[in-house]
Amino acid sequence: MIKSAIETALNDQIMREEHSSRIYLSMAIWCEVNGYPGAAAFLYRQADEERMHQLKLVHYINDRGGKAMLKPLELPNADYNSLLEVFEEVMKHEQYITASINDIYEITLKEKDYTTGNFLQWYINEQIEEESTMSTILDKISLVGKDKAGMFHIDKELDTMTANAAPIA
Ligand code: FEO
Repeated sequence: MIKSAIETALNDQIMREEHSSRIYLSMAIWCEVNGYPGAAAFLYRQADEERMHQLKLVHYINDRGGKAMLKPLELPNADYNSLLEVFEEVMKHEQYITASINDIYEITLKEKDYTTGNFLQWYINEQIEEESTMSTILDKISLVGKDKAGMFHIDKELDTMTANAAPIA
């Protein structure tokens, strides 16, 4: 049976992952209507990934004898000034998610819940990957600045990257 401190912490994470999904969905919509179809495809997929991160937590809590809970969510930003701003926000958000996962990991150590600690390893590795991907994209966008041809190229690259990505699982 899962301890209540762990259940609470994981339920908070369900909310954060669901919120991440909505943030990326909102960003994808902005990209799609502002002429960045590649970035939109990338972010639509990212929204799906976050939904999967959420579901994984739902199943884990329920499988351990707890009960997954949904919480109210803040409305994400609908408008951005630039693609650079979008990915700066993505980067900041992923760093925040990494910190939240680390905090839960600490709680599992305190509570001696090594099973949940082991489960969270998957999220720890996922965050390394996501932060690295986002920082690469952000570097490229920063590098081209306002150059339209460069931006077009990056958008294409995001499209290809998304098309070649492994299925979400
Ligand atoms: Fe589920 Fe991008 O963190």
